[in-house]
Amino acid sequence: MSSTNSGRGDAAEPEPGLDPLARTALWTAAMRAREHARPDRLFSEPLAHALAGDEGPRIMHLFERDVQRGVEDPALAVRTRFLDEELLRHADRGIRQFVFVAAGMDTRAYRLTWPAGTAVYELDRPSLLAVKGSVIEASGADPGCARVDVGVDLLADWQTPLRAAGFDPGVPTAWLVEGLLYFLTGTERDTLLRQLADMSRPGSRLLADYVGQSVLDGPGMRAWRERMAEQGHPWKSGCDTPEDLLADLGWSAKVTAYGDPEADFGRWDHATIEPGTPGTRGRYLISATIDA
Ligand SMILES: C[S@@+](CC[C@H](N)C(=O)[O-])C[C@H]1O[C@@H](n2cnc3c(N)ncnc32)[C@H](O)[C@@H]1O
Repeated sequence: MSSTNSGRGDAAEPEPGLDPLARTALWTAAMRAREHARPDRLFSEPLAHALAGDEGPRIMHLFERDVQRGVEDPALAVRTRFLDEELLRHADRGIRQFVFVAAGMDTRAYRLTWPAGTAVYELDRPSLLAVKGSVIEASGADPGCARVDVGVDLLADWQTPLRAAGFDPGVPTAWLVEGLLYFLTGTERDTLLRQLADMSRPGSRLLADYVGQSVLDGPGMRAWRERMAEQGHPWKSGCDTPEDLLADLGWSAKVTAYGDPEADFGRWDHATIEPGTPGTRGRYLISATIDA
C-alpha cells in the first residue's frame, strides 16, 4: 500500500520561509533536476525541477560561477546514484524501514521501486517539509511506499516525534544521512551518529557522505568555506578517519572515495575538475553496519 502521512502533527508552528540551511536543499534539488535533464543521466528525478523552485538554480549558479570556476561538480550526481543503489541493496536484503535524516527535497520515496511493506520516514525542518508537501501534492505524484514526513530539529529531541510517527526500533533500519554531516560541529555529529546507533537494532545500516578534515582545512576549500559561511550555512566539520569515528560510535564503516570504481559511474574519471577544486575532492561516501 502506498500512502503519505505527515508526522508533523498540530504542534509544529508554521515558519515563515526557509532558513539558510534549509535552502541548501533547493540547491541540491536543482543539481538533481539538471542531472535528470541529461541524456546520459545517472538517475531520473522528475520532481526535482519543481522542488528546486527559482532559488535552487540561483544558488547553484552562484557557487559554480564564483567558487567552482565554472565547473559543474559531478559529486551530487555520483552520490545520488551510489546511495540509490545502496538503499535498494538494503531493501533486497530485507530491510523495510528507512529513515532519511535531513531528507530535504529528496524524492526517493517516489522515484525508487520499493518492495511491498516498505516505510520511509523523512526527517527535516517542519517549514521545509511543508513546502515540499505542497509542491508534491500539486504534482499529483504518489509514493511507492508508506511515506511519513516528520518535522523535527535534529539538534533537539527528534527521536520522540519519529517514534510517535510509527518508527519501530525493534526492526532493522537503513538510515540515510546525505548532505548533512559537514553542517554540524564535531560534537553535534557525534551526538547524532550515536543517537542513530542507539535507535538501531543489529542488521541496521547507515549511509552518509562526508569530507576529510584536512581537505576542509586546506587552501583548496577556502573559497568554498568562506562563501558557504557568508550564505549562512557554514561547513563546520570533517573527519580524516571516518572508520575510527564510526567504530567509536558503534558502527563498522566502509568508506568509498568519489572516483573509486564503485563511485565513478563514468563521471569522475572524465570530470574536468582539477584536484583541489573546492567542494569536490576529498569527499567520500560511508556505508556502515551496526555492530551486533
Ligand atoms: C544540503 S541539504 C540536504 C538535503 C538532502 N538530504 C539532499 O541531499 O538533497 C541539508 C538539509 O539538512 C536539513 N537540516 C539541517 N539542520 C537541520 C536540523 N537541525 N534539523 C532538521 N533539519 C536540518 C536542512 O533543512 C536541509 O534540508
